[in-house]
Formats: sequence, C-alpha cells, structure tokens
Amino acid sequence: MTTTIVALLLALSAGAVARDILPPGPVDAVVGKNVTLQTLLKDPEYAFIIWNFNNEREQIPVATVGPQGLKVNAPYEGRASVDPKSGTLSLSALTAADSGDFSINVVKADGDTETAEIKLRVLEPVSGVVVTANMVEALEHNSTLVLTCNAKGSFLNFTWLNGTEPIATPAGGRLSVEQSESSSRLTIARVLRYDLSRPIICSAANKLETKKSAPFSVPVYYGPDVPKLKPSEPPRFVRAGSDFNLTCTSLCNPPAALAWYRNGTLLDGAGATLTLKVVQGRPMWDKLNQYSCKATNAKTKRVATSPVVSFAVIEPVSGVKMSHPAAAAVLLAGNSSANLSCQAAAGAVTDRTWLKDGQPLPARVAAAPDGSWIGFTTLQRDDNGLYECRLANAVSSEKAAYKMVVNFGPEEVKVSGETAVEVRDGINLRCSAASVPPANFTWKFNGTLTDIKTSTYTIAEATYKNTGTYTCQARNTVTGKSAVYTHNLSVKEEGALDEGLSDGAIAGIIIGVLAALGLAIGLVIYCRQKVPVESPY
Ligand SMILES: *[C@@H]1O[C@H](CO)[C@@H](O)[C@H](O)[C@H]1NC(C)=O
Ligand SMILES: *[C@@H]1O[C@H](CO)[C@@H](O)[C@H](O)[C@H]1NC(C)=O
Ligand SMILES: *[C@@H]1O[C@H](CO)[C@@H](O)[C@H](O)[C@H]1NC(C)=O
Ligand SMILES: *[C@@H]1O[C@H](CO)[C@@H](O)[C@H](O)[C@H]1NC(C)=O
Ligand SMILES: *[C@@H]1O[C@H](CO)[C@@H](O)[C@H](O)[C@H]1NC(C)=O
Repeated sequence: MTTTIVALLLALSAGAVARDILPPGPVDAVVGKNVTLQTLLKDPEYAFIIWNFNNEREQIPVATVGPQGLKVNAPYEGRASVDPKSGTLSLSALTAADSGDFSINVVKADGDTETAEIKLRVLEPVSGVVVTANMVEALEHNSTLVLTCNAKGSFLNFTWLNGTEPIATPAGGRLSVEQSESSSRLTIARVLRYDLSRPIICSAANKLETKKSAPFSVPVYYGPDVPKLKPSEPPRFVRAGSDFNLTCTSLCNPPAALAWYRNGTLLDGAGATLTLKVVQGRPMWDKLNQYSCKATNAKTKRVATSPVVSFAVIEPVSGVKMSHPAAAAVLLAGNSSANLSCQAAAGAVTDRTWLKDGQPLPARVAAAPDGSWIGFTTLQRDDNGLYECRLANAVSSEKAAYKMVVNFGPEEVKVSGETAVEVRDGINLRCSAASVPPANFTWKFNGTLTDIKTSTYTIAEATYKNTGTYTCQARNTVTGKSAVYTHNLSVKEEGALDEGLSDGAIAGIIIGVLAALGLAIGLVIYCRQKVPVESPY
C-alpha cells in the first residue's frame, strides 16, 4: 500500500516548484555512527513527509510521517526516525551501504508536493596507515626511493611529512606523488641526504578524521664530501715536538674511513688526526712534504681527497753555548788573543748573529763566513764588553752571552783641581785613569809619599806650606803597569786671587746691589710725596 502512495506522490511531485527544503550536501558520516539529515523546514504544514533512498540501482522508501504517525519501512526498522515537527531524518548504526542519495517529499493536503535530495557519504574509518619502501637503504644521488603509504578507509586524502613539514612535490621536480583510492606513492629520484633528514610520516585523512603512520625512515648513505683540514693553512715550518696536528673531517654516512698521505704515499697509523709523532716517525720529516687526507665511504665506495698542504717539521735550536777564554785566563790588551764560538746542542741552525753590548760587531772583529766564531788576534782595550750570539732557525732562536774582560792601563792618568788657592781656602784634587781593573792611587807631595790612597786629595784649609807639586800615581795590579801625573799648586795670601771671585761672593754682591737699589727707589718715592725734587733719572 505504501509503495502505491509513494508512486502516486512521485508522479505528483514531477511538476512541483523547487524550494530549498534541504541544505546543500553531501553529508559525511562514519560507519557505525549516527547521522541526522536536517531540513530547512519550519513548522511545515503537510499531509505526509516521505524519505526515500536511492543507491543508483533502486529507490527504497525509508520512512513516512503522516496522520497515522511514523511509519519506518522494514530495512530501516529500528534505525530510522523522522521528527514530525521538522521532517528531519535520523539514521543510526550506519553502514557503507547507506551511502547514496536521500530524498524528501513534503506532500500538502491539496496534493502539492515539494521534493529535495541530499547525498550521504558513509565513510569507512581511517585505519592501518603503513609506509613501506622499495629498498632498505639508499645511496645519495643514485637511488630512486619509492615510498608507499597504504591505508583503509573511504574518500582518503594522503599527505607526506618530513618530520612535521609537509613534503613539497612541485611538478617536474625530483619528488612526485601518485595517489589512488587507498594508497599514495612518493617517488624520490636521485635521493639526497636531506630528503630523509627526519622520519617520514604518511598522513591519511577523510573529511572526518586523520590517521598518521608510524615514523618511517630509510638510511641514505652519502659522501664522503671533500675532506676539510684544520688548520686549513698550516705554517710552512712546524716546531718539532710541539702539539701541532692536522685534523681531517668529511661529511659522510656511514662515517668515512680516513687515511693520511705524504707525497702520495700512505702514512700508517694516523686516523682523523695526523700528529707530529706519526709525521716524525718517518725519515725526511724535516723536509718540506705534501700532506693530504683521503676519505672513503664503505657503503657508497666513493672516495674524496682533501686539498694538499705542505710543511716541514723543524727541530728547535736548543742548548746554545758560547766557547770563550777560560774564566781563569787573564786577557791583556795588546798581547792576548781570543776566539769566541757558538754551538747549539740540538736543532739545525740557519741563522747566526753576534752582538757586542747589544750592537752589531765593530768591523775590525774577524768573523767566520758562517758566523760560527769571531776571533781577536790581539785584544784591544775597546774589546771589553758583553758578547752575545743568537742561533736561530725557522721555528726558534736561543742566545748565549759572555762578558769579556780585557785588562789594560792605567792610561790617560790626569789630575784635575785647583792650581792656585788663597790661604784658608779648601783644596780638592782628583786623579783619574783609564784602567781595567780600576787603578790604585798613591800621592806624593814634593816627591815625598803621602798616606793618601784614594783618587781624591783633599785639604780643608790651605796653608802656605801646601804650595808644591802633587804627584798622583795610578797602578794596575793585573797588568803591573803604573803611570804618574804631576800637578802644581800654589797657596797665596788672602785677596791675591780677587779677580777670580767665587760664585758665593758674586751672589752676595748682586743681592747687596739689589737691596741698595730698592732702598734708593723707596727713598725717591718718599721724597716726591713730601717735596718736589728733581728726578735723578
Ligand atoms: C545513535 O542512535 C541510537 C538509536 O537512535 C541511540 O541509542 C544512540 O545513543 C545514538 N548514538 C549517538 C552517538 O548519538
Ligand atoms: C648507481 O647506480 C647504478 C645503477 O643502479 C650502479 O650501476 C652504480 O654502480 C651505482 N653507483 C654507485 C656509486 O653506487
Ligand atoms: C805577552 O805574551 C807573551 C806570551 O803570551 C809573554 O811572553 C809576554 O810577557 C807578554 N807581554 C806582556 C807585556 O804581558
Ligand atoms: C776559532 O775557533 C774555531 C773553533 O773553535 C776555529 O775553527 C777557528 O779557526 C778559530 N779562529 C781563530 C781565528 O783562531
Ligand atoms: C815644596 O816645593 C816648593 C817648590 O819647590 C817649595 O816652594 C816649597 O817650600 C816646598 N814645600 C815644602 C813643605 O817643602
């Protein structure tokens, strides 16, 4: 009977005026869950509201609301209900078979019918999102990696993520994506290390939910990149025994095997770091050699070689000693000779410098062409001084010093002091001599030895009997030589030497004159105030 009514009503509805009584579809819902197909009707007047289902093969009545209340057709019994106030259809326990078009017919008492249709999509829940790959390991630049993401569910949309970043697959690039109903295939041509820098995640989604795969990764073997050396520009000369070393690094997965080469020949026993111990373990280490590092990737079988660096290891100069006349030897000017030479206990010396008292050697000093010694055939008094030799090479230098004492003199004996004094003046005579070691002095007066043994001869207040000849004798105990100087002095009566005023006397006179002048000026000013007097100026 229902079927008859439906058929009748459908016939009536054919010419009906369209009015929006359902919202636009489709409506998505998940298998097993409920769905409510809302209408846009508000307190409608109707005789019947009829819901039908059309799955593209047949039309099946669902439910009818009419004067006798709700009538649900057999296949939907217990699952469907219609709200009599709004005409809204509720369906529970959805299955995939519920996907299709639902139509509503609102039949007025006069037979007018309004019809509308809405699509329901019952989605299988998203599940079983799994990523697989066409290989277990990839070689950079060489492998074409194909990642496949499979999932269960309907109306799935796939997204590929590198960690959390969506993977871009611009047209014409190395990366491309092909999607089918239940899988997506990500193809990475000529894979790069960065492509899988983080685990790959496949995300499968329908309108209602999203499920992600477990993080997936495939090792990408790459490198070795061209090895880098540290320091990249080592010094040309390296000090032997120092902590200098060369380190080799190369980006590589798996880590590269590193080996060092000297002039193209393998240096055993050096890993990432080439130490001086290894370098000096080979002959010719002190020559300018070329060193390079080679990195090998066991997986890719690729090899890369660093730039070449050159250096020579140089033993530093050490233990520099100067040979010189024995400390006990007495060197005499004009008689002795001397030979100074410098040697280093270790290290190849390339540079020798001699200094005397911090200055270059005087030209008259003979020196070996290689600077290994300097010679004095006959020492002179001017050869006294501090001699230094400095032995050096490219990595170090060291000095040795010797103070050479050449005995001579006394020479240039001289007495300075007064030649004439007034009685009661002081007498101060000073005797000097050039001598190494310093001379001893004795004094004679009028040919008679005095007990003065200092370089100065002092008399506090002269008397007339101090007139006479003063003879200073200088004596060098080492050379055994002595020399004399005779100085005449006369003691005169007071005032006899007035023309030669002392500094004190001159000062006294100046002060006296100034005082007198001050008094005179004061007097003139005083007088002017009292009586006009003719100016003395
Ligand atoms: C689905 O509908 C059934 C029957 O109408 C009801 O018992 C159940 O509570 C509903 N479930 C949800 C999640 O609305
Ligand atoms: C790169 O792949 C080609 C072809 O698969 C192979 O012949 C070649 O040996 C590979 N090269 C390297 C370095 O693995
Ligand atoms: C000079 O040296 C020689 C030999 O070394 C010595 O016989 C001589 O006495 C010396 N002369 C003086 C003045 O010291
Ligand atoms: C100085 O000594 C060195 C070696 O100690 C020697 O070779 C050189 O001939 C000497 N020079 C002179 C001038 O005697
Ligand atoms: C020292 O000699 C001088 C000159 O020959 C003489 O005038 C003086 O009286 C002498 N003095 C003494 C104290 O002998």
